[in-house]
Amino acid sequence: MKKILITGGAGYIGSHTAVELWNAGMEPIILDDLSNTDEKVLDRLEEITGKRFTFYKGDCNCRALLDQLAKEHEISGVIHFAAFKAVGESTQQPLKYYRNNIGSLLVLLDWMKDQGIQDIVFSSSCTVYGQPDVLPVTEATPRKEAESPYGNTKKICEDILVDYVKSKPGVRAISLRYFNPVGAHPSAKIGELPLGVPQNLVPFITQTAAGIREKLTVFGNDYDTPDGSCVRDYIHVVDLADAHVKALSFLDRQGNDFYQVFNVGTGTGNTVLEVIHAFEKVSGQKLNYVIGPRRPGDVVKTWADTTKINQVLGWYPKFSLEDSMRDSWNWQKSLM
Ligand code: WQD
Repeated sequence: MKKILITGGAGYIGSHTAVELWNAGMEPIILDDLSNTDEKVLDRLEEITGKRFTFYKGDCNCRALLDQLAKEHEISGVIHFAAFKAVGESTQQPLKYYRNNIGSLLVLLDWMKDQGIQDIVFSSSCTVYGQPDVLPVTEATPRKEAESPYGNTKKICEDILVDYVKSKPGVRAISLRYFNPVGAHPSAKIGELPLGVPQNLVPFITQTAAGIREKLTVFGNDYDTPDGSCVRDYIHVVDLADAHVKALSFLDRQGNDFYQVFNVGTGTGNTVLEVIHAFEKVSGQKLNYVIGPRRPGDVVKTWADTTKINQVLGWYPKFSLEDSMRDSWNWQKSLM
């Protein structure tokens, strides 16, 4: 059975990807510093899959830890999630973001070269597009000036992969540009564990519905969109996890020194108010929300053109927006 190193594998998207890798007949080896998650996720993963995944607690900036891991496991590929991802925090602490998000990729690539590991799937983000001039967004849509140091680390990491692959190290790499990951595993055993006050829309919705937050503020309804609120492409986390499995399998069939980028979204945009109404429909309860001022830096509208990932990877989303709201709500209720 192939062993795949998942850095950040106890996190939100990483843990869901571990499940889908296992379901596809591959064995995840999880490395996580637990800075943005909880070790209990490993117990939940065992409940879902019946397998206790091998876990290393630590930072993938630590070469010695990676060397130890390689002594104990023959790794066939890497999925690199481990990164700090709070947009607001990144503007307060840019050096922390550059050091961690870029440093970890550099250490990982050196280690992979020394170990003869060829394949890496990198967690990138639609944030590299900023506010696209033309919609929907294709992989040929020009990347824009990053809105935050966090977004800039994603652009820089993509550039590192482009230049590194050009130097012909024998690596095969894919960057997956996620749109907005939402939802949770249908079992409600794993999901998004936001620490502190959630910055993202869906955890704020579910915490408001759960009575943890008094109300949700919609950041503006005077935009040039169908109902005035911002448009995003909300992709169920299990669909997103499946895209990583398909990307890894695709890499296995490519020649050396390969690099490609894929958008991962549903191909459909939804407004904030449509997300709220979908949540109210599946939860059967009214959400307490108010319309507030715009949030500085917000992209007005963006959603993916998914032709490339559909045709090249044979990947299609299976979950709807309502499925995402149902699974997010079941996950929130499991925490109460
Ligand atoms: C979505 C929409 C808000 C909260 C961010 C990162 C991006 C990626 C995904 C990591 C926007 C509105 C939100 C609230 C609201 N992260 N909103 N009230 O900003 O599209 O993307 O998360 O890769 O890099 O930038 O996601 O969930 O914060 O916001 O009205 O309390 O919901 O204005 O229109 P965003 P989000």
